[in-house]
Amino acid sequence: MPLDLTILVGTMTGNAQFVAQELELLLDDGEMQVRTRLMDGLDADAFGSAGLFLICTSTYGQGDVPDNAKQLYESLIATRPDLSAVQYGVVALGDRTYAETFCNGGRRFDAILRELGAKRIGEVLFHDASSGVLAEEAASGWIGPWMERVREQVGIPA
Ligand SMILES: Cc1cc2nc3c(=O)[nH]c(=O)nc-3n(C[C@H](O)[C@H](O)[C@H](O)COP(=O)(O)O)c2cc1C
Repeated sequence: MPLDLTILVGTMTGNAQFVAQELELLLDDGEMQVRTRLMDGLDADAFGSAGLFLICTSTYGQGDVPDNAKQLYESLIATRPDLSAVQYGVVALGDRTYAETFCNGGRRFDAILRELGAKRIGEVLFHDASSGVLAEEAASGWIGPWMERVREQVGIPA
């Protein structure tokens, strides 16, 4: 049985969506079935009660989640579902020019998911738009080690 992964995309100008598309291309094979969803219109029910998720989100405003992610983020805070059977990774997009709030959109999702009992797999990828490296390039380097951690934790063979 292939492992299901849902990539949830929070974006304003499409960078996070490019990342998700790249990761879907890399991962969607016999071993893994990937579904990518923009966060628009989603609420906490998007997590169901279990499963593997990748949060792929940028940062806007004063270190906020992007507009299309607000409903989902606020719904998690308001309804506080038990997500102890959820596992997740985070790809956080930002820009170090915003030193105080670098990648806070991804950090906010990481914090609330943890608070609700979900288990993070691997380290967060923090992408700096001012680095000159494209976010999708950084993500394609990051995803291999992340998948190794997924295999270890979920118990699928390499
Ligand atoms: C108006 C504006 C505000 C931003 N605020 C932040 C911020 O507070 N912290 C941060 O790390 N990046 C910030 N960024 C950078 C974006 O998160 C970054 O460019 C990201 O790659 C955009 O991805 P997206 O196209 O998926 O929305 C901001 C960008 C803009 C245009």
